[in-house]
Amino acid sequence: MKNRIGPPVEGEDFVGREKEINHVWKKIEEGNHFILAAPRRVGKSSFGKKILKIANDNTWKVLELNLEGISSEKQFLKEFIYQIKEESWWASVKSNANETLMAIVDSVNSIETGVGKIEFDWSKTENLYKDLKKLLESLDNCLIMMDELTIYLNRLEVESGTKRTEYFLNWLRSFRQKSNTQIRWIFCSSVSIENYTNLNNMSYTLNDVHSLSIGAFDKSTALLLLEKLEENKTFAISDNHKNYVLKKIGWLLPYFIQLYFSKIEYEIIHNRKKITKQTLDDIYTDLLENKTLDTWVERLVDYKANAGWAKKILKINCKTAEGLTKARLIDSLTQQIPDIEEREEVVIKVLNMLLNDGYLIKEKDKYPFRSPFLRDYWFNKFVI
Ligand SMILES: Nc1ncnc2c1ncn2[C@@H]1O[C@H](COP(=O)(O)OP(=O)(O)OP(=O)(O)O)[C@@H](O)[C@H]1O
Ligand SMILES: [Mg+2]
Repeated sequence: MKNRIGPPVEGEDFVGREKEINHVWKKIEEGNHFILAAPRRVGKSSFGKKILKIANDNTWKVLELNLEGISSEKQFLKEFIYQIKEESWWASVKSNANETLMAIVDSVNSIETGVGKIEFDWSKTENLYKDLKKLLESLDNCLIMMDELTIYLNRLEVESGTKRTEYFLNWLRSFRQKSNTQIRWIFCSSVSIENYTNLNNMSYTLNDVHSLSIGAFDKSTALLLLEKLEENKTFAISDNHKNYVLKKIGWLLPYFIQLYFSKIEYEIIHNRKKITKQTLDDIYTDLLENKTLDTWVERLVDYKANAGWAKKILKINCKTAEGLTKARLIDSLTQQIPDIEEREEVVIKVLNMLLNDGYLIKEKDKYPFRSPFLRDYWFNKFVI
């Protein structure tokens, strides 16, 4: 297998998760829809792609839409239509598309080719949503994956306010409300969609969708991944050292394992190091400086007015492996928020968001970091 660090993996590079894959596919066949929720780099997109592949193998029509780079509603609609017309099944359903939709398709085409540009009247977007819906509902079994939905919702909100995000979520809901719908949806989200809908009183728009949190690998899958990475290499890592690496990582994300492995390979091949516990410790220290974890800091901007409180809580909380209790965390903000009720409300809300987004977990009455690797990174970066 290739050591792909970062982009979603497919084919033989995809390891493990068989049980969850089978479960999700079975439920989808039964007519259910899913939110695949997990923090960054846990493996949502790879998981979603695997399900799309299964659907495709079962002769379903499939569509994948990555919303991460989309910054406006217009761009979203264009991208959606563009992706539809790129699919192999488009030719067979084209005749179901009405005039307006075809005009958009032409306009998307003309953007690509630069000739015969026809611009759609974008003030009529609601009609376009209706046309799109009609077209999609004319398909038989179809699985649509929307990746990074919450990122798009946040952008759409900045562009046009929560009225539009609510409209959009209701548009999606309207597909699912139809009995015998042939369309199934998978939404992937690295920023908790629940946080978003709760904050905006829109939970009702997604309450019919199953939520599956994609987690870390268990120990045996993590070992299997290390073994696969080692295949065809000129070196071998002893079982002892493999276990040591997994212990250091703690929360066994395949991404962390691949990152660690690539560093080990580098040290062996380029720096001619021998694998010892010391080398593995040094690699770990190097990884803490690595920019790969910066996304965990950056995406706190989506907490908007609560971002500062989240940072304060994480900074205080990263000082111990076992984390602090809610009461201690509330106490720690006494100076900044003198009013006790306001302080409690802030801490409870932010703790929930941090739990939803996978920064922290709850163990008995304490809130430790979910990943010791992330905690060490946080400490290294923010505690003097
Ligand atoms: N099942 C898997 N088998 C092997 N590697 C995996 C698997 N799932 C994830 N990975 C590793 O994790 C990395 C990130 O995977 P993926 O892009 O699917 O995660 P993601 O949760 O969608 O991330 P992001 O939030 O950044 O979009 C991949 O590049 C790969 O290194
Ligand atoms: Mg992804």
